[in-house]
Amino acid sequence: MTRPVLRTMTRDDLDRVLELELALFGEEAWSRQMLEGELGQQPASRFYLVAEDDGHIIGYAGLLAAASQADVLTIAVATNHWGQGIGSSLLSELLAEASRRSCSEVFLEVRIDNVRAQRLYQRWGFTEIGVRRGYYQPSGADALVMRLDLAAAVGQRTLAGRLWPFASRRDGGDR
Ligand SMILES: CC(C)(COP(=O)(O)OP(=O)(O)OC[C@H]1O[C@@H](n2cnc3c(N)ncnc32)[C@H](O)[C@@H]1OP(=O)(O)O)[C@@H](O)C(=O)NCCC(=O)NCCS
Repeated sequence: MTRPVLRTMTRDDLDRVLELELALFGEEAWSRQMLEGELGQQPASRFYLVAEDDGHIIGYAGLLAAASQADVLTIAVATNHWGQGIGSSLLSELLAEASRRSCSEVFLEVRIDNVRAQRLYQRWGFTEIGVRRGYYQPSGADALVMRLDLAAAVGQRTLAGRLWPFASRRDGGDR
């Protein structure tokens, strides 16, 4: 299998992104208006990527970065591509961007019953720091709040001499 290319999300990608968003998040899916609003803040405080396989968008992810803190806003992969490392590639690129923007910690919310996503985040060093009751609407599901000490993670990986896990972008980007 060829590795998907990660590139910056643009408004032209929104039809396909919304299709995936609805399929993966159902009633909690973001609207076109919300996503347009997010892209309107890119690159100032947002960083949105798509993963493209042979010209087809098969995943996407977004980051909010403000001062020393970043938040993983979303990450999603088409179900027929799960388990191929695409979620990890997207997350690693978000973390690399947070590091480039000098963020020292990264936060995220994840549904309490979304064990697969939690495992992905744990693999990257996120730890649970709290619960937000009724965070997801309209379902009312609770969210786990997770945090990564990015400064420490970067230092440890460098010091341990392990392979830097953050993927490089292949298109050079347009930022
Ligand atoms: C959560 C999500 C983004 C993970 O994406 P993914 O592309 O399947 O993630 P990865 O492939 O990187 O990792 C998933 C599993 O595949 C395994 N894997 C990674 N690379 C692999 C490869 N090349 N071959 C086989 N398996 C692989 C990983 O070990 C991991 O296993 P584990 O969950 O048992 O630890 C995806 O399931 C998704 O879109 N879910 C719906 C949306 C969602 O819930 N988003 C999170 C909102 S907070």
